[in-house]
Amino acid sequence: MTEPLVVLKDVNKHFGDLHVLKDIDMEIGKGEVVVVIGPSGSGKSTLCRAINRLETIESGTITIDGKTLPEEGKALAQLRADVGMVFQSFNLFAHKTILDNITLGPIKVRKQKKDEAEKRGMELLERVGVAQQAQKYPAQLSGGQQQRVAIARSLAMNPKVMLFDEPTSALDPEMINEVLDVMVGLARDGMTMIVVTHEMGFARKAANRVVFMADGQIVEQNTPEEFFTNPTSARAQDFLAKILTH
Ligand SMILES: Nc1ncnc2c1ncn2[C@@H]1O[C@H](COP(=O)(O)OP(=O)(O)O)[C@@H](O)[C@H]1O
Ligand SMILES: [Mg+2]
Repeated sequence: MTEPLVVLKDVNKHFGDLHVLKDIDMEIGKGEVVVVIGPSGSGKSTLCRAINRLETIESGTITIDGKTLPEEGKALAQLRADVGMVFQSFNLFAHKTILDNITLGPIKVRKQKKDEAEKRGMELLERVGVAQQAQKYPAQLSGGQQQRVAIARSLAMNPKVMLFDEPTSALDPEMINEVLDVMVGLARDGMTMIVVTHEMGFARKAANRVVFMADGQIVEQNTPEEFFTNPTSARAQDFLAKILTH
């Protein structure tokens, strides 16, 4: 593996009595693409949210590029800006144009000049195929277009790593591929990515590794090829049998 960019050591998290992350150890190398898969409720979203400190952890450490996640304040804002996150729902600002959605973070957090931020914003919109829509509002775009804008908005902050939490699961089927294609392109360009998804096509095309979680634990991990053809744990076998018969 290349130099590790994201390192989780012995991470634990409870919600009340519920132990949602159990002794999670995980290293993601620079440029590595990791797909996280597992049954609903297994802790995948909590894992993503912990990496970007939207959730606190009770024990263990999480480092990004050698730096421990700060508790709060400016350092935290800076670190969050290094970690791009794309959720299932698009979370665009409804009352701002597409271009304004993209440039807001770079201007406010990265202190870029407006014209610089807009130039780069247009390049990113071009890259995700929605440059034509720059002056429209989110509600005027399809779900697939909005999700591509959400990706461009994250990229505008020049993140070191991108987290995706089921980015296509709220989309109509015909829009899934346009979003996955953008993600495959990002992976090919060397972006470090942690992707929670059940899209096996994406995992096979773009992932270096699949991590299978159940009940707050990493149960097994392997290359996509090995994992999908020869899952070793009964839980992974059971899970794959269920998603494959859909
Ligand atoms: N804010 C919260 N408060 C209480 N329980 C939560 C909270 N967020 C998640 N959970 C619970 O933690 C477990 C893991 O959730 P989550 O990380 O969302 O799993 P996944 O993304 O794999 O479906 C689930 O049982 C869920 O109900
Ligand atoms: Mg989830």
